[in-house]
Amino acid sequence: MLNNQVVLLLLVFAFLQVSLSLAAERQIMQPRVPANKLVAAQALTSPLADSPELVEKGKALYNGKGTCFNCHGKSGEGDGPVAAGLDPSPRNFHNQDFWRHRTEGEVFWAIKNGLSGTGMIGFDGQLTDEEIWAIIQYLRSFK
Ligand code: HEC
Repeated sequence: MLNNQVVLLLLVFAFLQVSLSLAAERQIMQPRVPANKLVAAQALTSPLADSPELVEKGKALYNGKGTCFNCHGKSGEGDGPVAAGLDPSPRNFHNQDFWRHRTEGEVFWAIKNGLSGTGMIGFDGQLTDEEIWAIIQYLRSFK
């Protein structure tokens, strides 16, 4: 009988841990691009040469037409005005683990197509491919 109670307590504890971790950023090492699209997405590379002008263009789009700041924050820390209501939380672009575990192609895919089941909507049709690449160059400046 005692053993059963211990098992039950452990289960409750495990459940609480899971619920707590769900209210934060999702596990970063897990790729966000669906498995059947991952290889193609990872191979995408920016056609634009990096330059200070491109970063400035990306910044203007991030804080303007792209509306990214609403969730990811002006600081890029994932703390925009809309972020508090979102589960999982928006990505914090200062997180080095994020940049270690994504190719730029995956980042591009996520911005273009969105991540289903999260607040991250796709921007296909609202931003051109070149605009998305410019924003990615700005996101890198948070590294
Ligand atoms: C309505 C809120 C919202 C807006 C607006 C938004 N995002 Fe996101 N974004 C999210 C959330 C939530 C996640 C986390 C999804 C997850 O953990 O799977 C996310 C994740 C991401 C990621 C990480 C993808 C990955 O592979 O982990 C990138 C990159 C990103 N967003 C870029 C952008 C850019 C660029 C814009 C503007 C063009 C933008 N987001 C606008 C909510 C938003």
